[in-house]
Amino acid sequence: MTTTEHPQEVATAAASGASATERFHADKSPFEAVKDTPPERVSMLINDVLAGVHETIRKHKVTYDEYNALKAWLINVGEDGEWPLFLDVWVEHVVEDVATEHRQGNKGSIEGPYYVPDAPELGAKGTVPMRDDEPGDPLVWTGQVRSCDGSALAGATVELWHADDDGYYSQFAPGIPEWNLRGTFTVDDDGRFEITTIRPAPYMIPTDGSCGKMISAAGWHPWRPAHLHLKVSAPGHEQLTAQLYFPGDPHNDDDVASAVKPELVLDPKDDGQGGFTISYDFVLDPAK
Ligand code: DHB
Ligand code: FE
Repeated sequence: MTTTEHPQEVATAAASGASATERFHADKSPFEAVKDTPPERVSMLINDVLAGVHETIRKHKVTYDEYNALKAWLINVGEDGEWPLFLDVWVEHVVEDVATEHRQGNKGSIEGPYYVPDAPELGAKGTVPMRDDEPGDPLVWTGQVRSCDGSALAGATVELWHADDDGYYSQFAPGIPEWNLRGTFTVDDDGRFEITTIRPAPYMIPTDGSCGKMISAAGWHPWRPAHLHLKVSAPGHEQLTAQLYFPGDPHNDDDVASAVKPELVLDPKDDGQGGFTISYDFVLDPAK
């Protein structure tokens, strides 16, 4: 069977989860960044997390059967490679809130597990790589990158990545060309860019692994609203990681990853030819 024709038939949680885990190990050196953290802080953080767990057990009289189910589930999350998925859906949004609360410019949203650095360079105006028959409505996005004082940030880059019309990300679900729906744009001298892509579909986090099991055991749903992911960088400025959403999506109000903010919802205009145009600018805070 050719995976190119039917990526959804072979996209499994095990595949997406394992790719996300592999990618995390390849791109990041997380321990280096915290190597000077004093033991007092490490101890305080661990103790507070454990106190929350202990309090939950006492409050709800957690049984040995429940404790053993938790133990088995935690082991399975690792075996499925789903720790990036679990953490980015249920924890990252709070880290993001804390990390960006001081900002005067755009605050942003979570990165999620599917960012890949060094996507193809497409200039200030271009079309992201896509298949000849890429399903989805065309989307043309114009915008500008500015600093908090209103000045245009020439030289800024906008990295864009998003799911396809089936909700799959290239390099994580099999059978999709490497850089499909991923690109790096460098703004012009006025800080402006124009990006052509397709409008992404709502995204369901994988349900066939341990996270899916937890969702169904709890009676939750696995949906994220349709979204565009981006990172905006400019010399001397804080990097912005954000997501943009579409109005009317039923999951804007109950995103499983709690990552929607009102200022991140777009105002798309019908282009009269079956596609949409959007306009959205970014304001970056000067680096501290
Ligand atoms: C997950 C996927 C996303 O596309 C996203 O934006 C956030 C989280 C996930 O599956 O964990
Ligand atoms: Fe996403």
